[in-house]
Amino acid sequence: MSDQRRVYIETYGCQMNLYDSRAIRDNLSAAGWSEVESPDQADVLLMNTCAIRDGAETRVLGRIGEFQRYKYERPEVKIGVLGCMAQRLGEELHARKRAVDLVVGTDSYGQLAELIDAARDSGQPQFDVQTDDSLTYVARPETSPLNNSHFISITQGCDYRCTFCVVPSTRGVLRAKAPSIILGEVEQIVAAGGVEVTLLGQNVTAYRHPEASFAELISSVAGVEGLRRVRFLTSHPTDFPEATLLAVAEHEEISPWLHMPVQSGSDRVLRRMKRGYRMAEYMAVVETARQLLPDLTLSTDLIVGFCGETDADFQQTLDAMRELRFDSAFMFKYSERPDTPASRLDDDVAGQIKDERLQQVISLQDELWTQRAAGCIGEEWKVALEGEDIKGRGYFKGRTLNNRKVLVPKRADLSVGDELLVRVTGCAGTTFRSELRSVLWKYDHVAA
Ligand code: 5AD
Ligand code: SF4
Repeated sequence: MSDQRRVYIETYGCQMNLYDSRAIRDNLSAAGWSEVESPDQADVLLMNTCAIRDGAETRVLGRIGEFQRYKYERPEVKIGVLGCMAQRLGEELHARKRAVDLVVGTDSYGQLAELIDAARDSGQPQFDVQTDDSLTYVARPETSPLNNSHFISITQGCDYRCTFCVVPSTRGVLRAKAPSIILGEVEQIVAAGGVEVTLLGQNVTAYRHPEASFAELISSVAGVEGLRRVRFLTSHPTDFPEATLLAVAEHEEISPWLHMPVQSGSDRVLRRMKRGYRMAEYMAVVETARQLLPDLTLSTDLIVGFCGETDADFQQTLDAMRELRFDSAFMFKYSERPDTPASRLDDDVAGQIKDERLQQVISLQDELWTQRAAGCIGEEWKVALEGEDIKGRGYFKGRTLNNRKVLVPKRADLSVGDELLVRVTGCAGTTFRSELRSVLWKYDHVAA
């Protein structure tokens, strides 16, 4: 049996999984594992998975099938499934896909190295999907790229019970990291040359700790010397005290961008989803936010075709989109998830109607956004450069504090990390074009 320790990790799903994968890398590297870039070089293949919609799971099941061929070539190779899908299916995953040697849930990454050893030593599949209501992960900061946003998960799990959602059962109850731990992570990122963090949580605005409210937490993060930008997601309208918005307004480092899923524009549907708010309440939060934060951008998630959604309900979603004018929206067809409360309701909107409704929300969002984007031409924005435009057209790509993507023509004296004042000249899709007005700040960190 090979005692080589080369691991290949693939990450699916949300940014929280990206953060967890970093914590997983740290644990494995402490146990002598090195990460490789391609599955054919690895002794262990890991997938950190998502269970939010059926499609996410189907993709992983297909990928397990592809990974199986490495086992035909090298029988000692082990395949592990981690994350939400592992948590949801447990041993059933091995029953469905015999090639899977490890099923490790969202609270068990601390034991991962031992579980891999056990699978390799015994040749038997290993399962650990225990839950731990007090556990949170801390990942070391990545040292590159320094200029972009560094994710920090500040909560784990969710105390809401939205009826369509698998998260409460895959991620467990809400747990908040202590402010001192979060600030320690931010300080390490800054010491390594980072200037921007994104605070993550399934429902980040529900952050509550005996030592700090969410508003206090973001204020102290914004106060860390050397940090220039703080973003956070995902927000929930029920957890939006004015104090949070005031903290955003008070600190020029905090991004005036809310990613706040509305899910539906119909109170009847919101009630069936158990979202915990009515449209009027959602709109009131947006109105206050727009009053307090003139540069506010608002993005959302929407589900069409939820159980019992009538034409009239769906029209209310279209009306809400027209009224709220989202900057961007992630739009999904309802996908029934096993063992969620909604799985006991009748999934009665026909597939074809779901498809049509999805097309309608997508085109309406396009239309509304095109109008809104046209209104931005001529404005002057502050932009931080994040990298070279991959299409190689001689542009840098950058982002405004409120999360708009902007291309800026390259110039020899500009480099990634710099902050510029630009004038908006056009927009294609969700990316703006601009011309440089002036350089506001030069990024001059030299990586150690
Ligand atoms: N079906 C479709 N979309 C879903 N989402 C969550 N669960 C489901 C589901 N069962 C969407 C919600 C959520 C986003 C992360 O995924 O819009 O905000
Ligand atoms: Fe799921 Fe609702 Fe929690 Fe979001 S707030 S993670 S949709 S249960």
